Amino acid sequence: MVKTRSSLEAAGLKQRTANISERVKKIVVSPIKEMRILAEKVPGAISFGQGMPYVDTSPEIKEKLVAALKTKDISKYSTSPGLPELRQKLAERVMKKRGLQGILPENILVTVGAMEGLGAAVMTLINPGDEVIVVTPGFSSHIEQILLAGGKPVFVPLIEEKGWALDVDAFKKAITKKTKAILLCNPSNPTGTVYSKEDLQEIEHLVVKHDIILILDEPYDFLLYDNAEFYSPASNPALKNNLIACFSFSKEFAMTGYRIGYVYADSGIINQMMKVHDAFCICAARISQEAALAALSISDEFTKDLVKKLDYNRRLVMKWLDKMPELFEYQVPKGAYYIFPRYKTSNPKLKSMNSFNFCLKLLYEAKVETVPGAAFGPAGENHIRMSFGAKPEELEEGMKRLKKWGDNLIQ
Ligand SMILES: Cc1ncc(COP(=O)(O)O)c(C=O)c1O
Repeated sequence: MVKTRSSLEAAGLKQRTANISERVKKIVVSPIKEMRILAEKVPGAISFGQGMPYVDTSPEIKEKLVAALKTKDISKYSTSPGLPELRQKLAERVMKKRGLQGILPENILVTVGAMEGLGAAVMTLINPGDEVIVVTPGFSSHIEQILLAGGKPVFVPLIEEKGWALDVDAFKKAITKKTKAILLCNPSNPTGTVYSKEDLQEIEHLVVKHDIILILDEPYDFLLYDNAEFYSPASNPALKNNLIACFSFSKEFAMTGYRIGYVYADSGIINQMMKVHDAFCICAARISQEAALAALSISDEFTKDLVKKLDYNRRLVMKWLDKMPELFEYQVPKGAYYIFPRYKTSNPKLKSMNSFNFCLKLLYEAKVETVPGAAFGPAGENHIRMSFGAKPEELEEGMKRLKKWGDNLIQ
């Protein structure tokens, strides 16, 4: 049975330890990406792994990008925080999205995806030993970023029976003198929860009361189902000095490969984060900044259509899971494109199987890629994360394989 947090190590990947820093030895490549690397070597594997929408970037964005390549000199670095025109447009976008006023380009940092924004936020805030409260199940990369910065992730479990809702009392209890920040992704990766406004406002009170920073990760703010209501603490002006909000072009515009995102925060924080950003990347790729400018100019029909397609996929996956009540139970996702079913350890065949072993077995025996729930903190154990961003016909085939494999396993 596998004990490591790493599926690659579990699969025998050699890891040198001599000359390697303690900081790096402590972390793993996020199991989401690890499973992708392993699955790439399994011909014909179907991916419910890394979250990528199957649709291509809008042709309109591509055409505008090609025109920019022809008419502008985009072979040069931009300044570190990003193209002035893009920062201006992003400031306007945050004001519109969150109903705010007075946001300036100085409040925006253009980053290499939301991921780099989150990494820069954590590196900017955390001293060794500082605590950062994260939910579990919560996005696996948050955990690695906090560890890399020398911080301590403090896990607050979500309430599974309530659709993976926030446990505000548990947050209150988790805050100590060492708490530097709370890091929260909404809608949630991996559970698909859209957190309630009431619970989020309670978190806001805690942040202000203890004068800590709320790092928000909101790449799925557009991706909602069943008329779910999305609320962002970034829309509360009272929080503006205690907030770092990270956004992405990856999902909303189907631009995961462009690696482009942005951060909104107080300009004093942005200027500190810029040091980290400059040290690691100089600036976000200029070509991707141009693509982001193009994305901001298209109509919202592209995104509306994407949401419809992903909702279709969500229903398809739930329909199949409903056919496997002996194997799985799940909470209905209301946002993002993930579902986080629990496999039933009441079944003797599954009783002692941890989620790494479950997912590796599923990959190698049925050629279906998923992500072990334990990658998302302790409350993720005995679950698997399934992304439903792939093509419907692939999902259909993958679910068929999963059912056949599961039926054999538990009989
Ligand atoms: C919760 C969350 N945050 C951040 C990211 C990274 O986004 P980006 O591609 O903008 O770096 C992802 C990607 O899957 C994600 O799910």
